[in-house]
Amino acid sequence: ESTTEVDISSLQPGQAIKAVFRKQPVFVRSLTEAEIAAAESVSLNALRDPETLAERTVEGHTNILVTMGVCTHLGCVPLGAGDGENRGEFGGYFCPCHGSQFDTAGRIRKGPAPTNLEVPEYAFQSDTLIRIG
Ligand code: FES
Repeated sequence: ESTTEVDISSLQPGQAIKAVFRKQPVFVRSLTEAEIAAAESVSLNALRDPETLAERTVEGHTNILVTMGVCTHLGCVPLGAGDGENRGEFGGYFCPCHGSQFDTAGRIRKGPAPTNLEVPEYAFQSDTLIRIG
């Protein structure tokens, strides 16, 4: 299957859904106002892989972050999309394999991963339905 549809109608701010896209995990997360503010307050100079939250989301839906759930170091599945999972020091995702820490925009902030969590190609079919791929 080349595309994946994710229904986000029950996704509350602060929650994430795990789905599968091309046999790999993908995380769809609804950011809280505080998580959006945290992502937007970071200077690009402070980032290993400089990208803004706006560049990593769809216009008008900046609160919905869609990333691959695959660490860009050696491919482990980061924690932080499941209920109560450790989201790490920057409140996004935490890779337990070698300690990479990602922020609320899924950007690498600490640890060995060289780049941000990948944002797949996706589009909103409606306000509550996302097509990935
Ligand atoms: Fe994630 Fe190494 S695979 S930190």
